[in-house]
Amino acid sequence: MAGASVALDGRSSEVPVVAVSNRLPVQLGDDGWELAPGGLVTALRPVMQRRSGTWVGWDGGSGATPSRLPSLSIDLGAVQLEQAELDGYYHGFANRTLWPLLHNAVEKPVFDRDWWATYRDVNRRFAEAAAAAVAQHADPVVWVHDYHLMLVPQLLRERDLGGATGFFLHVPWPSPDLFVRLPWRRDVLLGLLGADVVSFHTEGYRSNFVRTCRRVLGDEATFRGSEIVLGDRVVRTTSSPISVDASELAQLAQTTEVTAELQALQRQFEGRTLLLGVDRLDYTKGIIERLLAVELLLERSPQLRGRLAMVQIAVPSRDDVVEYRELRATVEQIVGRINGRFTVPGEDVPVHYLYRSLGQAPLAAYYAAADALLVTPLIDGMNLVAKEYVVVQQARRANGVLVLSEFTGAALELKDAVLCNPFDVEGLSQQIERAIALPESDRRRRIAAMARRVRAHDVHRWVAGQLSPLSDMLPARSPLASKA
Ligand code: UDP
Ligand code: G6P
Repeated sequence: MAGASVALDGRSSEVPVVAVSNRLPVQLGDDGWELAPGGLVTALRPVMQRRSGTWVGWDGGSGATPSRLPSLSIDLGAVQLEQAELDGYYHGFANRTLWPLLHNAVEKPVFDRDWWATYRDVNRRFAEAAAAAVAQHADPVVWVHDYHLMLVPQLLRERDLGGATGFFLHVPWPSPDLFVRLPWRRDVLLGLLGADVVSFHTEGYRSNFVRTCRRVLGDEATFRGSEIVLGDRVVRTTSSPISVDASELAQLAQTTEVTAELQALQRQFEGRTLLLGVDRLDYTKGIIERLLAVELLLERSPQLRGRLAMVQIAVPSRDDVVEYRELRATVEQIVGRINGRFTVPGEDVPVHYLYRSLGQAPLAAYYAAADALLVTPLIDGMNLVAKEYVVVQQARRANGVLVLSEFTGAALELKDAVLCNPFDVEGLSQQIERAIALPESDRRRRIAAMARRVRAHDVHRWVAGQLSPLSDMLPARSPLASKA
């Protein structure tokens, strides 16, 4: 990797990075600036805090976002969007067309020409903002993220900025049979292929992408293994699983703040086995199936009533989108039904439902307290919550167990989880029962093995794999230029 010395301001002197994603890492909440939701921000924040560069993204409706915040050592390039732009680009094309399409159409994608037109316009706005940020740095790499911005790589190439551009997709890429339903499939593929490197979490998603390109662009591109040749350009495709900052999280898990919160939770749930779910309230996460499995478990095993508790943290997400509002209503109805059926008179309810986002320390305390984490998506590109749980459990010398859907990217790495098929509610309830009955020594061994894996493949390894091929494409840097 290019020069790894540390500059006077404590930042690495590696090449500057212009990261471009739909969201900035922060948004203005009721109590001031807070981290924006989702795994993309979790993974990129520690990386960008160590590098020089700029993070370009939508300000989340915060209004006048400063280019620097005292709590966050990252330069921010805010993009502001009008309501009509948000509706067509974010609520519409990104979250009602692309999100369900890329997640195996678990909800039906909606195809709307006006949304597509707005998506194109807004991608142009992001490309302009990225180009302005590129001009502020000496030979940066440009690193574009996720399904909201799939046209940006080609739009940047048309501006002839030089340098190197990478694209990383944080969600799955489905089989060609599904993707080709998209009326604008060719434009989206050519948009992505404006990058020098297009990268995915897993080999399966990468190979689906190449097969999709073959099917749609067979007449205009040639294919050499993992490379796609378009005219005189070669586009590389790679795969690399995103991860968490394991050492930062392990340190946080051992702070007095987390210890105090953990003790409070241990008192609250004393004598009960604690199951935990932590997700954005999203239909891909299998929250309904998980609740139904817990309900079935309490139905089948009366001896567990009063001895089993579940906490479901549901982070509000995309609540302007009808499918998300309907999901919330269904989840809340099922929680109410389970509590109505199984609360022992005079005792606590079996299911605690928190419709809010927790900060990192309180969340770490829940991870530490939980006897089992239930990660049951119908499909999920990776799932960082699963990785965070094993790191925190290990750091606290706890002996919890991870129940993990086989349809997550994380399942390819966390092989010592108790794997489940969330579509099989009865099977899932049996796997939960099996997980909480595992002997303590077995649970410890599994957590240790999974935490080892996450430490060895942490977010810094991911970022090195993403950025070094791009840095290598740049002109050689003088030592002075590299500290710009
Ligand atoms: N998260 C959080 N507060 C919460 C719940 C979740 O900060 O109350 C974070 C969690 O720590 C994780 C991210 O949200 O880093 C979720 O990432 P994941 O990959 O699991 O799912 P995504 O939301 O990106 O689909
Ligand atoms: C997923 C996506 C991210 C997105 C996050 C939160 O992780 O891959 O791009 O930022 O969800 O969703 P939101 O719509 O609130 O940005």
